[in-house]
Amino acid sequence: MNITVVGAGYVGLTTALGYANLKHKVFCYDNDLEKIKLLKKGKLPFFEKGLQELLPLNLNKNFVATDTLIDSLDKSSMIFICVGTPSLNNGKIDLEYIFQSCKEIGMNLKSCKDYKTIVIKSTVIPKTTEELIIPIIEKYSSKKIQIDFDVKVIPEFFQEGNALHNFFNPDRIIIGQINSSNNLLIDELYSSFTCPVLKVSLATAEMIKYSSNAFLSCKISFINEIGNICKLLGLDVYEVANGMGYDPRIGPYFLNAGPGFGGSCFTKDLQALIKKAESLDYTPLLLQSILEVNNNQPLKVINLIKKKFNKIDSLKIGVLGLSFKEGTDDVRESPAIYIIKELINLNLIIHAYDPMALPNMKKKFPNIKYFENPQELINNSDVILIVTAWPQFKNLNYIGKYVIDTRKVIDNKKGVDYEGLCW
Ligand code: UDX
Repeated sequence: MNITVVGAGYVGLTTALGYANLKHKVFCYDNDLEKIKLLKKGKLPFFEKGLQELLPLNLNKNFVATDTLIDSLDKSSMIFICVGTPSLNNGKIDLEYIFQSCKEIGMNLKSCKDYKTIVIKSTVIPKTTEELIIPIIEKYSSKKIQIDFDVKVIPEFFQEGNALHNFFNPDRIIIGQINSSNNLLIDELYSSFTCPVLKVSLATAEMIKYSSNAFLSCKISFINEIGNICKLLGLDVYEVANGMGYDPRIGPYFLNAGPGFGGSCFTKDLQALIKKAESLDYTPLLLQSILEVNNNQPLKVINLIKKKFNKIDSLKIGVLGLSFKEGTDDVRESPAIYIIKELINLNLIIHAYDPMALPNMKKKFPNIKYFENPQELINNSDVILIVTAWPQFKNLNYIGKYVIDTRKVIDNKKGVDYEGLCW
């Protein structure tokens, strides 16, 4: 099958290289010329496990990077929209990139003769596809939905650091579509996947994506709140979570207490869902609390530092781990950002290290001291904050240091002045 993927971000490139590897012909379009230039040279614009290996294998064979839409659209029967849907300053979803790509697709569709299926992979608030996306494509293409083209919503549940594995091994495929929609192409595309395939309405598919992210972030804020109470009680929240997880109604996953969730999805999607609910005159108290607990969580480390030292102003604080989780160079919404901001407010000396995220964090905080080696950071700091669960932090020498471990990384605490965040 010939497929055009619009948007060369995490979701777009994983989708594009995934299908290319499954022997489909994929055109990957982005209007960011720098990204396309890099891809044409066989380089990725970001790190994601496994993608770099797939790129040269498929480049200019099953995978073509392009900055012009018309040729690829004409040749493709399916078009995947994978552009970002960030937050506006007021928390509402910013649909600018979606509108822009629908307009571009619409204008280019005008001259295409064959029937096209357009798939929305980007996360969009329920009813967006029905009320905004389809009308925009119809307007700019002068074509009619289900006569000249179809639109489906197939949300993606990729986790960064694991996206390619998630692509090849999805736990379910959700297909949102108009009732009378034709399934031939989609059924062919997913024929090699063995997981359950659920066909629902467009808006239901959109809501499944939001509800999944809201539920996962709810689990994290829940266990962080329990963890904060455990800390006051002198208990270990990881033992508590372990005991809870055997109940199949609860399950053992996403119950790792820590400095709060980060990343490109949870916060923005919660904010967008809250705003949507409010626009419908509903106050989503639980969703608001998930964010509130999460906003407070990184600052717990600051309270611990203040509790430990009478005088903090001459302390050198070493932050180990800057990405929002291990296995990625992505720092978006990383708890480390909120911790560093507060340390800057307190005028403390900040040292920072990450195995992958240094270049991205340097753009945000150019004036703090970065180390190329984690042991050197430890040797030169008074307090060590372990903020990301990189496995290489496990066996460093922390002897004689005050260490606040927010992710339960260290096993050997002999000779270490050790403090757990929620244990
Ligand atoms: C998330 C969803 O998992 C994925 O399905 C969706 O498509 C995009 O958003 P991602 O942001 O890549 O994926 O990472 P995820 O592994 O879910 O972690 C998100 C944040 O939660 C990280 O900061 C992580 O450290 C934190 N987390 C996760 C915890 O603090 N505790 C946990 O138990 C799990």
